[in-house]
Amino acid sequence: MPQSQSSTREIPETGLIPKHIAIIMDGNGRWARNRLMPRMAGHQQGVETVRGVIKSCIERNISYLTLFAFSSENWRRPADEISFLMQLFMGALEQEITKLHVNGIRFKVIGDLSRFEPKIIEFIHNGEQLTTQNTRLTFTVAANYGGRWDIMQAMRKMMAQSTELPLNFEEENLAQYLSMNYAPEPDLFIRTGGECRVSNFLLWQLAYTELYFTDTLWPDFSEHELDLAIQSYQQRERRFGRTSEQLQMAVSVKR
Ligand code: IPE
Ligand code: IPE
Ligand code: MG
Repeated sequence: MPQSQSSTREIPETGLIPKHIAIIMDGNGRWARNRLMPRMAGHQQGVETVRGVIKSCIERNISYLTLFAFSSENWRRPADEISFLMQLFMGALEQEITKLHVNGIRFKVIGDLSRFEPKIIEFIHNGEQLTTQNTRLTFTVAANYGGRWDIMQAMRKMMAQSTELPLNFEEENLAQYLSMNYAPEPDLFIRTGGECRVSNFLLWQLAYTELYFTDTLWPDFSEHELDLAIQSYQQRERRFGRTSEQLQMAVSVKR
């Protein structure tokens, strides 16, 4: 499997358009509460936003979109909300997979699937298989995902693969077992809903990602909001630990 560039090893290729955008879709509950509606109405509306963001990413030539749909800590929510979210996820899978495929989108799910119902797992596997050759956009849903879980499961897999305990292993040895080993590290991270935290999302991969926080609640997140985030990204100087002068030198050498 080709290894993606590691931001802690080298300066990855970057451009004006982020290759990979990762989003924490937060604020569905508050959106509904503001309208005196049940939280579930917010989740339902949130699915509409997902559709719009996928379309916008394709139009902007973004290659990878990763959305945090359900965290390993979200099981602590009330049972009726969890089961509603599962049904919503399942319904969306059932309805959308063919559309994703027709539009050239590769579908992936990361997270600990073992807690999901067998039917959902089957839908996920079928969807992944159907779309595996598509190259227009890789759309990843993080479901029952946690950054710590990911690093732990990678560690377990790595140790199970080697005959002796690898004490001198390198970053790359572990990275190949992370669940997003098929994607470059995110260039841009967006969190809607006003909280300025990572909430156990892609802990490893966010090492040098540009972070963008907006108060907009996920159901209200529009194409324009996405452009604001991209514009903010375009104004950042990504130094990856180097000085500004070093980066400018590297650019002038390339020219
Ligand atoms: C994000 O919206 C969706 C999930 C976590 C599943 P929330 O449900 O967290 O909405 P708020 O933060 O309570 O408004
Ligand atoms: C983060 O949102 C997880 C998802 C969007 C799936 P939460 O609403 O669960 O995060 P906290 O609890 O506010 O940190
Ligand atoms: Mg929330």
